[in-house]
Amino acid sequence: MTTPFKAVKVLDDIYWVGAIDSNITEFHGYRTQRGTTYNAYLITGEKVVLIDTVKSGFKDEMMSRIASVIDPSRIDYVVCNHAEMDHSGCLPDVIREVAPEKVFASKMGVTVLNAHFHNKLDIESVEDGGELVLSGPSAPGGALSLNFMETRFLHWPDSMFSYLPQRKFLFSQDAFGMHLAGTERFDDQIPTRTLEVEAAKYFANILLPFGNLVQKLLEKIDTAGMELDIVAPAHGPVWRRGFNDVKNMYHQWSNQKLSKKVVVLYDSMWGSTNLMASAICDGIACTGVSVKQLCLSTFHRSDVATEIMDAGALVVGSPTLNNQLYPTIADSLTYLKGLKLKPRVCGTFGSFGWSGESIKYLDEIMASLGFENLGQVKTKYVPDEKVLNECHDLGRRIGNHLTNTI
Ligand code: FEO
Repeated sequence: MTTPFKAVKVLDDIYWVGAIDSNITEFHGYRTQRGTTYNAYLITGEKVVLIDTVKSGFKDEMMSRIASVIDPSRIDYVVCNHAEMDHSGCLPDVIREVAPEKVFASKMGVTVLNAHFHNKLDIESVEDGGELVLSGPSAPGGALSLNFMETRFLHWPDSMFSYLPQRKFLFSQDAFGMHLAGTERFDDQIPTRTLEVEAAKYFANILLPFGNLVQKLLEKIDTAGMELDIVAPAHGPVWRRGFNDVKNMYHQWSNQKLSKKVVVLYDSMWGSTNLMASAICDGIACTGVSVKQLCLSTFHRSDVATEIMDAGALVVGSPTLNNQLYPTIADSLTYLKGLKLKPRVCGTFGSFGWSGESIKYLDEIMASLGFENLGQVKTKYVPDEKVLNECHDLGRRIGNHLTNTI
């Protein structure tokens, strides 16, 4: 079947040839309500290179975009910057169809791809700092080469960057990306606020556990004096205007710089825990500190992760259901635990009918995260005025604490 998709020119000899997935709403636990793109890029030097492939099921779209520029059989090299299946899912099919001279990945990339595809692919490893010459100096566009930089655990052990110094062009795989579908291919075509919100959500849900490594990477980019006119990630828009803005945000997010902001995270069975949450939020607001009231019947765990990234405090509430935490709370706290949040202050609350174990479990989880607990409020059945005043006091205590410490 011939498909009519076209490549998008980024520079004279570099094209975006990826795929747009407008319908994906769930990405390993992350709600992607704006869809995503799987970005692949084609470099047409003397050697033709495909940087990354796309998720299985989107191969025809990618091949069609490639065919709008060159005959795909002219691809000499495929570089796999990241082995996760959204970028390597159709790699075996592409290799079969294109028969490239070589396929490259980092040393760990070879290991991971061999594990995924049961050693059926022939992949050559590249060294950190290694170079792949694409064009000689007498080529029409001048010399062209790819330099490889390992970015281990950003966010997989195999991840690496590929850099074209002659074009000041970085293929950054997942780093600096976002889940945002659409036909706009460049950051300057998208409202700044949308870029900030989606880049923050992506960082919180994908890169937050590796903040120290992100800081080292940013330092490495600066120390190496890497000039960057264009940064092309594996998801979302290509940065050709605002890369420095997102780089500055990465500095801030990777440090988990806390602000005068509280997240009140909870769910409610019959409205009692909700009443308590509202009283706590009002108490916080009375101190002038910003507060986000996030009930899990409305908000998704990945939105919570985004909000909590810079919050100086977390107040978490759960009813007791069958002697346990409410399931949505257990879900979100498990997810947050994996994000390796920097310790901060917290509070706990909730209502119960007869046994009331949820508060004990919340306290244990907060302690396991290293959070300092500034107070606990629990009530049997429906909170009365006294309990709601205690909630209000807890909110004010936490708000005042942030005012005095941040
Ligand atoms: Fe876009 Fe880590 O995969």
